[in-house]
Amino acid sequence: MIKIGVVGCGLQAATIASYVGVYGDEYEVVAVADMNIANAKSRLAEKKVHVSADCKFYADVDEFIAAKPPVDGIIIGTFCTYHTETACKLEQLGVPLYIEKPVAINLEQLKQLYNTFKNSSTPIEVSLPMRLCPLTRRAKSLIDAGLLGKVHQVVGYEDTHGEIYFSTWFRDAEKTGGMFMQKAVHDIDYLFYLTGCNPVEVCAMRAKSYYQGDKPYDMTCGECPDKMTCPEGPMTQFKEMGRYENVCEAIEKNSMRMNPDGKVGTKKFCVFSKDIAIEDIGECIFRMESGAHVTHTQNFIAKAYACRRGARICGSLATLEIDFNNSTLALYHHRNNSVERYTVDQGKLSHYGGDRELIYDYIQTIKTGKRARTDLIAGNGVMSTLACICARESADSAKFIKIEL
Ligand SMILES: NC(=O)c1ccc[n+]([C@@H]2O[C@H](COP(=O)([O-])OP(=O)(O)OC[C@H]3O[C@@H](n4cnc5c(N)ncnc54)[C@H](O)[C@@H]3O)[C@@H](O)[C@H]2O)c1
Repeated sequence: MIKIGVVGCGLQAATIASYVGVYGDEYEVVAVADMNIANAKSRLAEKKVHVSADCKFYADVDEFIAAKPPVDGIIIGTFCTYHTETACKLEQLGVPLYIEKPVAINLEQLKQLYNTFKNSSTPIEVSLPMRLCPLTRRAKSLIDAGLLGKVHQVVGYEDTHGEIYFSTWFRDAEKTGGMFMQKAVHDIDYLFYLTGCNPVEVCAMRAKSYYQGDKPYDMTCGECPDKMTCPEGPMTQFKEMGRYENVCEAIEKNSMRMNPDGKVGTKKFCVFSKDIAIEDIGECIFRMESGAHVTHTQNFIAKAYACRRGARICGSLATLEIDFNNSTLALYHHRNNSVERYTVDQGKLSHYGGDRELIYDYIQTIKTGKRARTDLIAGNGVMSTLACICARESADSAKFIKIEL
């Protein structure tokens, strides 16, 4: 029986906890620390997590540590601000940790985290599933087989709608560190993995361009006098975008993020609120140790068929294109007019199947002590967060920033 502890047991941590049984292992959650215990219980129930009948609930990580619960692994899913502090406190228990991304939201935290774990015997797996999903691993095998030749340029992109980021807690920049850390960190990790080396320096830009507005920060869509003419409002969503059954449902769904059980929900706020400090467009360019350039661009404006997530990797011999949303790779040869196309089934679990591998590694670490592929230290799980912190600094100072800890 695998005994799991959770610190910060919201949607994400409960989802990961629910995966602990996917390889047939018996498990149960025996200890939970959360500043909102009612929310934690609700999320565990919603995700159908196996919770021990005498599971203990604590108000914070200090109480959790003092109680010395008999756990084989601990999942950290607090708000991003607390990831470092929580992990550093838990290190002393010597139990394999699973930490959500970003592992830190500023350089000071990241140094503390790195220094705490660099010589520690406590394994710490970072939630970086994009480098583990079948599509990325197939791309890596083509690159490693030499089909592209030397890699010169990598251009990654994610264009996706921003509703969740601009209407829920993700809009609080101090809770997430901004969208490089919150979103790009996943893709920058797999882009570095494919390039096969570390970044040296970065230049970047970011801005809030589309979600400009002067609505109160805590006003819901339902409360807004302009909701029927708003470009993101219920009328547009129902009549033009074809979402929801009717305008009333659109108002309700725009104002409340319901749990699947329909019982508990959290308020959603106007995406055009003033004082939202996260960006909706962002770009960064990394100079890699190999001399290659890695670019990543993201926006939270695109919708419907305009959404995309993927990358083009240009080598001497061929260009490889990854398309996550269509599960395809295309290998365009430079020396002849041929294109090889691959469809790679993602299989089950989120992040294009990457979570299946993440949880496999975590279970192996619990059973054997073997470090995960995305371990903070052994798996270079620290690098994408470091790169994103430096990208943010570059964007905010309009300077090239050296990437070093
Ligand atoms: N890997 C991914 O793709 C992915 C997806 C979503 C969220 N996340 C990350 O997971 C984390 C949680 O996100 P979520 O969507 O589950 O949020 P959430 O609001 O659903 O859950 C957070 C939970 O942690 C608790 N909490 C926060 N800080 C705490 C602290 N210091 N001590 C104790 N409890 C604390 C809250 O009360 C809440 O129950 C974030 O860091 C987010 O970036 C990762």
